[in-house]
Amino acid sequence: MKTVRRKITKIIGLLIFVALCVWVAMRWNVWFGNPPEEPAQPFAGPSHVLLTFGDSDELSRNISWQCDTVIHPSSLQLACGSDTVNIEATGEVFASRCGRAAYYVARLRHLKPDTRYSYRAVTDGKASPWYCFQTHQPHRGRFSFLFVGDVQDTIGGEANRLLREACARHPQVEFLVCGGDLTERPTNQHWAETFRDIDSVAQSMPFLNVTGNHDYFKGVIRKLERRFPLVFSYFLDSKVGDNMVYTLNYGSAQIFVLDSNREFFHLWTQRQWLEEQLEKSQAKWKILVLHHPLYSIKGNNNLIQRWMFDDLVRQYGVDLVLQGHEHAYARWIGGTYKNGAPAVPVYTISHCSPKNYRIEFDERFNKFGISCRYYQTVSVGGDTLTMATYDANTHALYDSLMVFINHHGAHLVEDLGKDIPENMDFTPDPTNKKDKKFAKRIQEYVTRHPERIKTTTKN
Ligand SMILES: [Fe+2]
Repeated sequence: MKTVRRKITKIIGLLIFVALCVWVAMRWNVWFGNPPEEPAQPFAGPSHVLLTFGDSDELSRNISWQCDTVIHPSSLQLACGSDTVNIEATGEVFASRCGRAAYYVARLRHLKPDTRYSYRAVTDGKASPWYCFQTHQPHRGRFSFLFVGDVQDTIGGEANRLLREACARHPQVEFLVCGGDLTERPTNQHWAETFRDIDSVAQSMPFLNVTGNHDYFKGVIRKLERRFPLVFSYFLDSKVGDNMVYTLNYGSAQIFVLDSNREFFHLWTQRQWLEEQLEKSQAKWKILVLHHPLYSIKGNNNLIQRWMFDDLVRQYGVDLVLQGHEHAYARWIGGTYKNGAPAVPVYTISHCSPKNYRIEFDERFNKFGISCRYYQTVSVGGDTLTMATYDANTHALYDSLMVFINHHGAHLVEDLGKDIPENMDFTPDPTNKKDKKFAKRIQEYVTRHPERIKTTTKN
């Protein structure tokens, strides 16, 4: 009897092992596969110019570009009024799977506040077009930036139009922040799409980006290409070990950037870095940007990131946590003051991508949005920080809240968006089981919160 039992156990074990092998083989490319790439033509002149911040000072800028496959003498011509100076650029050749390309970075420091500069990149005597940017105007006492979550545009997609429209509608915006996954995949073709997406935007306003999982090469251990910090060049000087972390002081705010894609020990290093930065921060407003939401709207995901960072968010009074990755909109006022009033931190998840995910409707969150692209403006000044969320297609206001400081110095939150109806439009594919389940979850959510809803699912 024992021998029969042992045999049955062995057969079951073997069947499970075979099933596991088949499943891994079927999923191998999804988890670990990187499609091959065609060789790319090098750029004859300075191309893919990108303006961003440099060190942690609001009056720093880095400008990166790409040209040819070998290093040539290169500089940035910077003009202010009738003065023009040449700033030497440093170059580095990076070989992607498409071939070699030379990347350059010019570092501008100690710029003048409230000043308009023009610049162009020059490599081997060949120049880019002239571009302009404006430095922070402290006398205004207030500044704004625009945030987008994942963009991951399709080739020839709409992101450039949406971003340019968003900037035109909010001319007070001084820089842009992306919550990672700006690029669909780390390939030349998708990087080219990204530069189309940010064309005419990221040359005139600093563009701050965090790493997302799509920025990494897939593999058993995922790898970030050197190209990423060569483009978002503040990381060249700010990274800790090979953790892409960065902090920026801007007006009365400090922004902290994390790389949430990493394995446990890297996240631990980032935790130590974040704690050190928060401890010495003198900023009135603290904003954290990372790709993976600390509180997921796709079930119990990202628990390691929550365990690593959330206690610091609460201990050091971070006001706003800007996140992406889950391709929907969600907002949670996560703190409570001693009298029961809503308080910081505010957690938001957002995206501006053509891809929409099927989410869970976690009751902690105060507001959701699905089947749409969004962007946010964050405006900081005096004793208030306001965040407004817009439908990226119509530019209609979708959500709004204000953080204000009371006479005890507590950072409380007023929900200004609770009466704006939520978008629950969803058309399920009748042959798709996951779609059907999601439609059911939406219906249940609508039943629980009829007061929040604009439209319902179509069957
Ligand atoms: Fe992602």
